[in-house]
Amino acid sequence: MYKFVIKGGKPLKGKVRVSGSKNASLPIIFAAILTEDAVISNVPDLRDTRTAISLLTDMGFEAEFEGNRLKVAKGTNIKTEADYELVRTMRASVLTLGPLLARFGKARVSLPGGCAIGARPVDLHLKALSKLGADIRIEHGYINAVAPGGLKGAEVVFDFPTVGGTENLLMAAVLAKGKTVIRNAAKEPEIVDLACALRKAGAVIEGEGTDTIEVEGVESIGTIDYTVMPDRIEAGTFVACVAAAGGELVIEEFPYDVLGAVIDKFKDAGVTIEKVDEMTVFVKSNGRLVGTDITTEVYPGFPTDMQAQFMAAMCLADGVSIIKETIFENRFQHVLELQRLGADIKIEGNTAVVRGVEKLIGAKVMATDLRASASLVVAGLAAENTTEIYRIYHLERGYENLEKKLSALGADIERVKSDRPY
Ligand code: EPZ
Repeated sequence: MYKFVIKGGKPLKGKVRVSGSKNASLPIIFAAILTEDAVISNVPDLRDTRTAISLLTDMGFEAEFEGNRLKVAKGTNIKTEADYELVRTMRASVLTLGPLLARFGKARVSLPGGCAIGARPVDLHLKALSKLGADIRIEHGYINAVAPGGLKGAEVVFDFPTVGGTENLLMAAVLAKGKTVIRNAAKEPEIVDLACALRKAGAVIEGEGTDTIEVEGVESIGTIDYTVMPDRIEAGTFVACVAAAGGELVIEEFPYDVLGAVIDKFKDAGVTIEKVDEMTVFVKSNGRLVGTDITTEVYPGFPTDMQAQFMAAMCLADGVSIIKETIFENRFQHVLELQRLGADIKIEGNTAVVRGVEKLIGAKVMATDLRASASLVVAGLAAENTTEIYRIYHLERGYENLEKKLSALGADIERVKSDRPY
């Protein structure tokens, strides 16, 4: 087990490059199941992407992951299963369901359990795939799905614009017979990236990024050869780091056009964010911010994956910030840990009221989930003295070499073996 040790209070300075998007890579990696082979570039080297690759190799695919480039080739007898041990570590494994059903007409995928931020059921995924003719049963904690005659295109209306549900259905529809119309589809940029990757391989898709996606099923698709978009949440996390710790950064591979809500809110809070060119921004902050309210929404609203990091930056802002979480029912795990650093936060239902304090004081804190751990890094960089963040395996699911990137920007942060059994 490892922990981060951060000696806070140092402003950040320098240039950093955003890695490829975790949440775009995962569905595109699983889309490789739909075809004979895939070459996917700019895949971040993370616990989650390595879990996704293990799932493919466990099924019998050949995979080679070197220097952020993933090559996938179809192996011999493919096992159309995603087993409990791997699904347990990463809920996004449920995204194997659609591609397996579409390509092989059957799938046995462990039901993802709950997770720290909420129950996160997959009922909408299953309902949608059933509409395409899949017969789906839950037995002994597994999703058993068959579509003996192949999937047939249909019109599906999601009760909620689920990101994963849209991705699962989109991948299934690519090889279904006939036309599928997905209504109330999620509009997240990662879905647009997946659709672009599939279209490049020969899928017939229209409307991605809007709430209605139309797919004309095809017999098969060719090689997926695609470069994944930059990670908008990692990009936003760097803005939160410099907002809280102060300093100035040049951030490269910054997907400016898909971060509108985040940029606006940090500007409202007093952070300078200027576009240098299409994919580069200059960010400056004197570390003293103005309390700013946010409500998390589906895209293009303020992303729930940036809520914890924004909250950490607001702990030191002048005034009050009202932070409302509308996507997940339990995404305030970081509050208790931020309070250990001296933050003044009160939770009322799905709303956190953050009153800015003069300073945060370093302490031992515990990461509980991916973005909660990122918020503790943000706070630790701004806090006085030393902050030790335990269980950083949560963080390493979604951030590539974060401590190295921050050290190169002047932060005093080290990844060391934990002195505790966690
Ligand atoms: C994706 O999760 C992301 N993960 C999450 O990022 C992100 O927070 C989330 O979208 C929302 O933007 C990946 O892309 C791998 P949802 P997903 O289906 O697909 C409910 C991170 O930090 N729901 O849009 O699971 C669900 O419980 C991760 O990188 C159902 O009720 O999100 C939740 O309340 C965390 N039934 C809401 O919808 C379903 O069948 C949003 O879920 C599906 C979802």
